[in-house]
Amino acid sequence: MERIVSEDPAVECAERLAAAAGRGGHIVLTGGSTPAAAYERAADIAVSWARACLWFGDERCVMPGDGRSNYAMARRTLLDRVSGSPPRVCRMHAEHGPEEGAAAYARDLARAFGADATPAFDLILLGLGPDGHCASLFPDRPEVQERQRAVVGVPEAGLDPFVPRVTLTLPVLNAAREVIFLVAGEAKAEAVRRAFGDGAGSSSVPASLVRPDSGRLTLLLDPPAAARLALEARG
Ligand code: 6PG
Repeated sequence: MERIVSEDPAVECAERLAAAAGRGGHIVLTGGSTPAAAYERAADIAVSWARACLWFGDERCVMPGDGRSNYAMARRTLLDRVSGSPPRVCRMHAEHGPEEGAAAYARDLARAFGADATPAFDLILLGLGPDGHCASLFPDRPEVQERQRAVVGVPEAGLDPFVPRVTLTLPVLNAAREVIFLVAGEAKAEAVRRAFGDGAGSSSVPASLVRPDSGRLTLLLDPPAAARLALEARG
């Protein structure tokens, strides 16, 4: 697990996102608010996105133009800003509800990766909730235990916005060639300690269960988010 602590982790995140896009391949975007600055920076980096295929780690069950939509945030900060030929984008159609949205995305994943294969993404970008959730895998929820399906519906979100969700599951997150967590702010410090400190993984802290089978795991943190990790390291 590589930990990079910097005043503005969006810079490193943007560079890695743009580099992955330039190499082409399947990239999973995260939702939430933290990645917006990284997406805006990535859109301004001179690479071609034409060979990349962008997916989503999770989506809220709202219309794609709704202000709570992760797709709408990605459109505003990245997709509408990249120059040159655009990437392919595989949106989660979560507006049809958690179960139908998950079933549709499962079909998209099967078409891209094969019906019986666990999707192996080149890069998955994740955020971290203050409760230790990532994607829409919330503490102690049944979706955290899912080991067969690649994508599932989440009838009850554990944090605002309290709308149903669609989310990729842990087997997919851990099959990635690289997983990057982008986390900023003092409000996340305890979640960072619980997810990435010395403790064992727990379904109460879903991000603590994201440990790629053979891929790289990188934490991009600002100092406030990393503060309790550093304390733990000092003992
Ligand atoms: C979502 C995200 C979620 C997010 C964390 C952190 O749909 O909300 O995918 O997992 O990454 O909640 O969100 P912030 O960056 O807004 O703190």
